[in-house]
Amino acid sequence: MQHSSIKAVLTNTPPLTEVTVNGWVRSFRSNRFIALNDGSTLNNIQCVVDFENFEEALLKQVTVGSALRITGTLIESQGRGQKFEVQVTDIFVHGSADPDTYPIQPKKHSMEFLRENAHLRIRTNTFSAIMRVRSALSFAVHQYFRENGFNYVHTPIITGSDAEGAGEMFRVSTLDAIAPPKTETGDIDYKQDFFGKETNLTVSGQLEAETYAMALGKVYTFGPTFRAENSNTSRHLAEFWMIEPEMAFYNLDDNMDLAEDFIKSVIGYILEHCQEDLEFLDKRLLDEEKNKPQAERSPMALIEKLKFVSENNFKRVSYTEAIDILRNSKPNKKKKFQFPIDEWGADLQSEHERYLVEKHFKCPVILFDYPANIKAFYMRLNEDGKTVRAMDILFPGIGEIVGGSQREERLDVLKEKIKALDIDEKELWWYLDLRKFGTAVHSGFGLGFERLVLFATGMGNIRDVIPFPRTPQNAEF
Ligand code: 4AD
Ligand code: MG
Repeated sequence: MQHSSIKAVLTNTPPLTEVTVNGWVRSFRSNRFIALNDGSTLNNIQCVVDFENFEEALLKQVTVGSALRITGTLIESQGRGQKFEVQVTDIFVHGSADPDTYPIQPKKHSMEFLRENAHLRIRTNTFSAIMRVRSALSFAVHQYFRENGFNYVHTPIITGSDAEGAGEMFRVSTLDAIAPPKTETGDIDYKQDFFGKETNLTVSGQLEAETYAMALGKVYTFGPTFRAENSNTSRHLAEFWMIEPEMAFYNLDDNMDLAEDFIKSVIGYILEHCQEDLEFLDKRLLDEEKNKPQAERSPMALIEKLKFVSENNFKRVSYTEAIDILRNSKPNKKKKFQFPIDEWGADLQSEHERYLVEKHFKCPVILFDYPANIKAFYMRLNEDGKTVRAMDILFPGIGEIVGGSQREERLDVLKEKIKALDIDEKELWWYLDLRKFGTAVHSGFGLGFERLVLFATGMGNIRDVIPFPRTPQNAEF
């Protein structure tokens, strides 16, 4: 196969070389200028056609959206807007696209329209830039852990456990839809799901990752995660990707240090490797924000914000200190919080989290030592008997991006917790075994990958940073 990526042609091919490129037509002006894009770069390559040299029937097939192979000579461009162009000698049409029905035209489409066309929206500049940044970030995740002595563990997607105890699970079923097995009372017998066992799609790989940390030392998972929460927000998906490191012999401080270093490192990676896409997304955000009232605009441009986060320390504050701050705060002149903070022990709403990050501290915040009763069963109880060694990282414009903790390593304390929450000890026999056989201090956290991509791309809705968003409305593709 003799062809190069458009990126390679535009960046490191000498002029007067004969080149062959493949791609999709973004525009075809004056029967002469084809803008071709192959996804390797944001930039199109301009291909100049002397239409006298080509059959009219062939040129008719060169429409927006069609796939072509073009051969020609790379020359320095006389026109503005590009350094090089291809003087075309041969065109092969892989497949044409009917201009009347091809949905992605060279104009601005609404995000809503593009979500309905998730299979084609990747052919726009915005989505190709987002998805390249997403890909680079996921590479940076693996690289970071690899370089820091972690092993990658694949935890199960189908599982019998509810790691978060929140009951927000999708059941897995092998039920016969026409004649589902029934109980004696005639109801569908869900106990017969998954070959007779009750199972669900995982809400977190943490508990299984803990077993690996207690053998391999430092591990991480990075995989799809499912939550059946029917929340229609710009921050929630029913299917999202989570990164979950788990480390033996790490306490909560070590955990916070790692999480902060990790986030800074992966953001540093895209600043270095995704400059072109980030510059495009930066400009895009600036354009979007022009239509917003001054008060709602973000105080920093995208790249400035990414640099700020990668270079400055996050603020660490205990839950109790945060509650004091919130109690003494007015979010703005007239309005109070929609959910006023009256008592210690209340869970923070996103308006509180965003106030702390965006108005009070003006930087990412790590909140730690939360009340035990608003956090999951596995978190280590503090000496005060009422708080746990939990930490959440809150980000500007996003809210919670990380949730983690030091795990309860004491068998007796963990058993009491499980009992108090009415969880059947038998279901967690393997998890309890870790506390019986060589238990040790250990910690970990979960980072919602799409929330990181949201932050990194400056997009406003989580549905636009995952290829095929699964939300209560959308599971079509
Ligand atoms: O805070 P969460 O629920 O924590 C856990 O699942 C722990 N087991 C993680 C661990 O300690 N290993 O979720 C972790 C992160 C959140 O901070 C958020 O970024 C993301 O996962 N997240 C979601 N992202 C998109 N859509 C949803 N519905 C999400 N729910 C959580
Ligand atoms: Mg959480």
